[in-house]
Amino acid sequence: MPAEVPKKVLLTGASTGIGLAIAQRLCAAGCDVWGTSRDIARLPQLPHFHPVAMDLLQSDSIRRVFAAAREQSGGFDALINNAGAAVFGPTDTVPLEMVREQFQLLVEAPMELIRLALPDMLRNKTGTIINVTSLAGVFPVPYMAAYSAAKAALSSYTRCLRLELPLCVVEIQPGDINTGFHNATQRVNAPHTDGVWQVQIETMAAAPGPECVADAVWRALHDPNPPPVLVVGNFAQAHLGPLAARLLPSRLMEWVLRRHYRL
Ligand SMILES: NC(=O)c1ccc[n+]([C@@H]2O[C@H](COP(=O)([O-])OP(=O)(O)OC[C@H]3O[C@@H](n4cnc5c(N)ncnc54)[C@H](OP(=O)(O)O)[C@@H]3O)[C@@H](O)[C@H]2O)c1
Repeated sequence: MPAEVPKKVLLTGASTGIGLAIAQRLCAAGCDVWGTSRDIARLPQLPHFHPVAMDLLQSDSIRRVFAAAREQSGGFDALINNAGAAVFGPTDTVPLEMVREQFQLLVEAPMELIRLALPDMLRNKTGTIINVTSLAGVFPVPYMAAYSAAKAALSSYTRCLRLELPLCVVEIQPGDINTGFHNATQRVNAPHTDGVWQVQIETMAAAPGPECVADAVWRALHDPNPPPVLVVGNFAQAHLGPLAARLLPSRLMEWVLRRHYRL
């Protein structure tokens, strides 16, 4: 549970989409945000924002850059693991190297940052860790098996941390959010996947903007006892989704997913 509102925040993936909305929200409220991107020129220029160049696929970049940012900040009160990207393609044709990179970006990098941030938080007996997962970890997306599995892994890791740590640990689980995420997805082409790809374009276009995820982050940082998981998205995904995941038999759930993706 946070003793006080975090003032110094390390946020990954702050250049666009959800991360940018979180950075804007926190900086406007006077928090100091150290926000990362692979390319520092893509980061916003905001009061209280400190640009950080970090490639989450490179372990040495994570360690070296974290150390420099920590020295500049004097230590972080909150860590938000938000950065992410997806690979789309049939399991038999997506190269194993791309699968490994999914797990490096979405699971290993957040774990490494948590381990780096923990000593200060444990010493101060306060701190907030927020992991941005995905509804895809609960309702898997066809042709995004590695992405769905990596998000499920981060979700499980987050639940474990809640049991281990005397800190505030929250999972933010977005459904479809209208950002450039789909455009940034690396696609391994196969004609029989076109239909699912098209469904994703349509659902993303109709989805709410990233500000609703920034609202959830705000709640996780300010609520003295936030829920373990905050599901964010349109009404169906944020409210009916978690209910369906708990109540529907697996075969029926699969049928619903097949219908949704027109499989
Ligand atoms: N949009 C959705 O529908 C949705 C739904 C559920 C979950 N999510 C999750 O929400 C998070 C943010 O997604 P978004 O929608 O905001 O996507 P986005 O607009 O594409 O932003 C992705 C961010 O991640 C960073 N990033 C990507 N690869 C990186 C790497 N190798 N090293 C360092 N940074 C990297 C990007 O930074 P640079 O490219 O500038 O380096 C960018 O800031 C992701 O974890 C995503 O999985 C999104």
